[in-house]
Amino acid sequence: MLYAGIDIGSQSTDVVIIDEEKKIKGYSVISTGAIHKNAAESALAIACSNANCNVDDIKYVVGTGYGRKNISIASSQVTEITCHAKGAFYLNNDTRMILDIGGQDSKVIKIDNLGNVVDFIMNEKCAAGTGRFLETMARILEVDLSEMGEKGIQSEKDVKLSSICTVFAESEVISKIAEGDKCEDIINGIHNTICDRAIGMIQRLSLEAVLTMTGGVAKNRGVVRNLSERLGISVFVPEEPQIVGALGAAVIAYEKSNRR
Ligand SMILES: Nc1ncnc2c1ncn2[C@@H]1O[C@H](COP(=O)(O)OP(=O)(O)OP(=O)(O)O)[C@@H](O)[C@H]1O
Ligand SMILES: [Mg+2]
Repeated sequence: MLYAGIDIGSQSTDVVIIDEEKKIKGYSVISTGAIHKNAAESALAIACSNANCNVDDIKYVVGTGYGRKNISIASSQVTEITCHAKGAFYLNNDTRMILDIGGQDSKVIKIDNLGNVVDFIMNEKCAAGTGRFLETMARILEVDLSEMGEKGIQSEKDVKLSSICTVFAESEVISKIAEGDKCEDIINGIHNTICDRAIGMIQRLSLEAVLTMTGGVAKNRGVVRNLSERLGISVFVPEEPQIVGALGAAVIAYEKSNRR
């Protein structure tokens, strides 16, 4: 029998399918789009195809993410906090702190040596410090989102953005371009703005030795590098950071099903 986790986020809908040994059999990451129900169904179909199984082979489904109420196939719903903690601990059980930066919110979660959530902080009030901020900036700079990380790493000069708000930062970036600052340096400044926000949250919970970063922004090597340097630790990034919430949901599906 198989177990699945479905995470409907503001940007991506992610599905992970695991087996009786809690091994990952298949997964998918697709764009959420406007209709959550369609996203869940499509992502599940792709993950099934990757796992070489049928939807009927799945015994228990747990839904998570901000669209979790719209997953009709899910037997239960669990918060993102619990799922990210579960997924990150499953991938690396030395993890004591998780930083998740998604499309519209960011959160820091503290867990104990059994993977239980001890504390968390969530920022969902504004776009600054989230993937949305990076998307806006990439558009202004006419750089592909997936190239931002590498470009930022090439920076040789500090360019600091002073605006906290995305709207003001947008015009600040435009004037930096006009002033002749190099694209790489502006990007690095943008990455540091993301790091400022994240570090502020991390410090409020006090940094733990093993920090796992999840969510799509963890794919940006520039953000991860700056964060590691500024925190003085090596931030652990899973192979596919975007599926960690769905993975946690799948592990919870396994546990719920086997508890009954
Ligand atoms: N290949 C990539 N390279 C760099 N950044 C990326 C890449 N893919 C996605 N991202 C970033 O990840 C963000 C989306 O992350 P994710 O899929 O974790 O969000 P989400 O879970 O849908 O959102 P939320 O949890 O806030 O509801 C995008 O806004 C973008 O900034
Ligand atoms: Mg998310």
